Amino acid sequence: MTDTTTDGVSTTQAAIEQKLTDSVIASFDNTPDERLKTLMQALVKHLHAFIREVRLSEDEWSQAIEFLTKAGHITDDKRQEFILLSDVLGASMQTIAVNNPASGNATEATVFGPFFTQDAPEIPIGGDLSGGAAGQSCWVEGTVTDTAGNPLAGARIEVWEADEDGFYDVQYNDGRTAGRAHLYADTEGRYGFWGLTPTPYPIPHDGPVGKMLEATNRSPVRASHLHFMVSAPGQRTLVTHIFVEGDPQIEIGDSVFGVKDSLIKTFATQSPGTPTPDGRDLGGASWSRARFDIVLAPGMKTQQPPLSRPKEKTHG
Ligand code: BEZ
Ligand code: FE
Repeated sequence: MTDTTTDGVSTTQAAIEQKLTDSVIASFDNTPDERLKTLMQALVKHLHAFIREVRLSEDEWSQAIEFLTKAGHITDDKRQEFILLSDVLGASMQTIAVNNPASGNATEATVFGPFFTQDAPEIPIGGDLSGGAAGQSCWVEGTVTDTAGNPLAGARIEVWEADEDGFYDVQYNDGRTAGRAHLYADTEGRYGFWGLTPTPYPIPHDGPVGKMLEATNRSPVRASHLHFMVSAPGQRTLVTHIFVEGDPQIEIGDSVFGVKDSLIKTFATQSPGTPTPDGRDLGGASWSRARFDIVLAPGMKTQQPPLSRPKEKTHG
């Protein structure tokens, strides 16, 4: 009897490969923790399917090991190349999607990124988070409510962003705190602050992930954005950004797939001399303003375990 082939693989060869996959899956049958068993067996199933589908060469296998080894070597308490890898492969955003199902009119979540710090200063409503960071001043205001529209008085709003040169404060080696703050919504759920008009910047791309992006003709640049983390008792903590309507990088593609249509906001440029909402004198400079009304979903669960992410330090 002749051996038939599918995609160039004979039936006999396919059976040998399947037998190996089956025996590796079975090796996890006695895992006491059911969830761990599910994870390991699905991982083996998909990993073997990938190897078989692409007919992975031994040289390619070696290159993959070398890539992961380099990612391990560049990773320390300040630099996390594996999270970056997860981000550029869309795995971070897919995990967020799986864990944050749409909840009515609740604001959508997006990727956390590596630049949050827990020690950002508190500012009053109307305060300035720029801390001397370079950039065009931007007035951001809005409300924080639950999905029924009730104001969430006292909601905690963390905001962080890069300067106009594309760097977060933690990427400079001088210990500065700039471009970040937290504030609390007032009794009617309102908030407002001065920040900087967001500009595009590249994710750290001097390591193996950057090389992979280059080899695949992908840009490391993120669409311009302003990060938020918003929490209130009884509500699911929201980690998100707002993006700048008209930013060409949205069309080109955000390197970590973080853009969602509902998060694209108008940052209206105000010509020099336009009166500011709080009468602040900007010395004749132009400025911008944006509105972001935040709706938190009910629940206690934090959407991600982001606080364990280490800071990046890559510049200066
Ligand atoms: C950021 O938005 O800051 C970011 C997100 C993912 C990877 C790197 C940077
Ligand atoms: Fe960012």
